[in-house]
Amino acid sequence: MHTGSGTSHAKIIMIGEHAVVFGEPAIALPIPTIRLRATVTPAAHGQMVTSAFYNGSLAAAADTNFVGIATLMRQLLHNFDAIDQPFVLDIVSDLPPERGMGSSAATAIAVVRAFYDAFGAAIDRATVLRWADVSEHIIHGNPSGIDAATASADHPQWIIKGQAPRPIASLHQGALVIADSGIQGQTRAAVTAVTRLREQDPDMANTAIHALGQLTRQAALTITNQDVPTLGKIMAAAQVHLRRLGVSTPVLDRLITVADAAGSYGTKLTGGGMGGCIIALTPDMATGQHVAQQLEAAGAPQTWIHDFGANDDQG
Ligand code: MEV
Repeated sequence: MHTGSGTSHAKIIMIGEHAVVFGEPAIALPIPTIRLRATVTPAAHGQMVTSAFYNGSLAAAADTNFVGIATLMRQLLHNFDAIDQPFVLDIVSDLPPERGMGSSAATAIAVVRAFYDAFGAAIDRATVLRWADVSEHIIHGNPSGIDAATASADHPQWIIKGQAPRPIASLHQGALVIADSGIQGQTRAAVTAVTRLREQDPDMANTAIHALGQLTRQAALTITNQDVPTLGKIMAAAQVHLRRLGVSTPVLDRLITVADAAGSYGTKLTGGGMGGCIIALTPDMATGQHVAQQLEAAGAPQTWIHDFGANDDQG
């Protein structure tokens, strides 16, 4: 084993979260400016992890929320016939954990890449995603794969569960404000709640899920046409269905009202919900900055602005 490193980044679900778990499409964006890096270094003894969210030995991670990544690491070591290899894994992340930005998937992707690098092995994207599924299943229960697909991609992704993720066109106009509600998102609990709602009130839940699927298909068209105002309206409509599915909260709803009043074309939660982040689609960076300021004044502890106008790729 040599020193190895791997990187990944945040993701934001533009539209289609929750519905994607039940077979509908979703659109997710990589946010390459919010990064995560994992570095694994051979050590004299011990198997240690240092990070903002877990510090300790691999063995002691069993009862912590690092258990998914720890299980993944054990399987990676086994794969390289190095189950007792002493090492230090250091994870440095700009991603806030449990905010719907895919921090667990981003961690998994970077860790897999770091271990493959450390053992001098090449890895393709499909294999990275298969490995990330190990920890995502433990952490989220029934993941669609959207987080890992986007944390490992350079382009917006069209995601259908069980199919290979497909890159789609980027927007080249507008600015997306991401605002942290300051409350931990609960992806696993939210996915379980929607699953239960589908059992209790299948008509209502399935109608909302299919409507989200339709809105996602319309959103893809508006992205192709660079029609930012209509995309905003579609995002606002998606939020209505997410609320019906029970995954929004009064805090998220209040921030959404603030963003809309400050000039957003359309605002919704992003990711699992029940906390986490909201996203507001705005016409340009100046409006985005104003919306972000208003959201911070309303209590959002942190905001980020993704400038679609800075996209110079064509895909
Ligand atoms: C979580 O980022 C997105 C959800 O749709 C769950 C998933 O797709 O695995 C809520």
